[in-house]
Amino acid sequence: MHTIRLLYSSDALEGLRYRDFLTIMEKAAETNRERAITGMLCYGGGQFLQALEGERLTVNALYHHIAKDPRHSNCQLLSVEEIGARDFAEWSMKIIDWNDAVTAARQALLLKHSGSRQFNPSQMTAQQATVFLRDLAAMERLLTE
Ligand SMILES: Cc1cc2nc3c(=O)[nH]c(=O)nc-3n(C[C@H](O)[C@H](O)[C@H](O)COP(=O)(O)O)c2cc1C
Repeated sequence: MHTIRLLYSSDALEGLRYRDFLTIMEKAAETNRERAITGMLCYGGGQFLQALEGERLTVNALYHHIAKDPRHSNCQLLSVEEIGARDFAEWSMKIIDWNDAVTAARQALLLKHSGSRQFNPSQMTAQQATVFLRDLAAMERLLTE
């Protein structure tokens, strides 16, 4: 059994109603739970940044499935790595709406890891995206403790 973490960015479909999308993601989180997939999905500035963790074949199949979803385009793999421990173990899919929930602390995190004030994951390096999401998760844990 190989556990991997896959990160990708994509462009959201223009005019996507985020509320509708959230409803779909509630179902998706349920499916992820059944498949032992964990992760985080960050939406902002018309882009998605998603991390998928789980068994290698399961994550691959899910990624190829998601990449065909017409609600986004230009899926771009940022990284795929074998991992010893999950970064998002407690979330079948933690969703963060960057547009709505951008606090000063989150903004500082983005600037620190990407060198930009704009949420623009398609321009991040694999390392930047990995550490950004990991720190965002840590911040989220502190907030919900
Ligand atoms: C940005 C984005 C992220 C998604 N993430 C997941 C996910 O983590 N798990 C999942 O099951 N579906 C996810 N989906 C939804 C799938 O693309 C798909 O709609 C869902 O798996 C239902 O597939 P089905 O209609 O073939 O049953 C995501 C869609 C988008 C646009």
